[in-house]
Amino acid sequence: MTKPREHWEDVYRTKADTDVSWYETRPKVSTDLIAATGLGLNSRIVDVGGGASHLVDALIAVGFAHVTVLDLSAAALTIARARLPADAAVDWIAGDVRDWVPDTLYDIWHDRAAFHFLTTPDEREAYRSVLCKALRPGGYAIIGTFAPDGPERCSGLPVSRHDATSLMAVFGQYFRLVKSLRHDHKTPGGAVQRFHFGLLQRS
Ligand SMILES: C[S@@+](CC[C@H](N)C(=O)[O-])C[C@H]1O[C@@H](n2cnc3c(N)ncnc32)[C@H](O)[C@@H]1O
Repeated sequence: MTKPREHWEDVYRTKADTDVSWYETRPKVSTDLIAATGLGLNSRIVDVGGGASHLVDALIAVGFAHVTVLDLSAAALTIARARLPADAAVDWIAGDVRDWVPDTLYDIWHDRAAFHFLTTPDEREAYRSVLCKALRPGGYAIIGTFAPDGPERCSGLPVSRHDATSLMAVFGQYFRLVKSLRHDHKTPGGAVQRFHFGLLQRS
């Protein structure tokens, strides 16, 4: 990670969650890809780098019973948590994904726009190692990043842009590619950001 936790705490403390460039009212690509796994509502899902995303709201609304949101920023988790009913079945984890020691096996790992902040092979290797420990054999990873023709920076930080080939260069030893798609995200400011999403299955 090129910048410390303070960068993200500052973002979520100073900007409305609906004003950040990555905000989306309905995380449709993510929910469609989660549906594409064919796994049911008892699946264990972790949203890695979930921030203040509304994905957790959508998952709880349809009845997913085991949802975890992990993010570097405790402020982001506080924003998301405040929107949900107090008894919502969500585990909130503040920390760096690369230091995370999961205490259960997950069926689905979702990451929209966190992995792309890992700009060196060592950082990506650390991420892959945690992912492989967290996901059960046969489980699914959904990884959304800026596409090769997407922006070079996100939240002012440099990113690594990906497509199916570069994702599989990182994860291919342990995953098969189920689906690869491109998505144009419209930011609250009206700009278009080109994303790539990969749906991968753990061998
Ligand atoms: C561009 S935002 C995307 C947030 C959310 N996934 C969404 O789609 O709305 C990136 C998020 O990744 C988190 N993040 C960045 N690096 C991280 C790391 N190493 N471990 C955990 N979270 C991280 C940030 O705090 C931030 O919330």
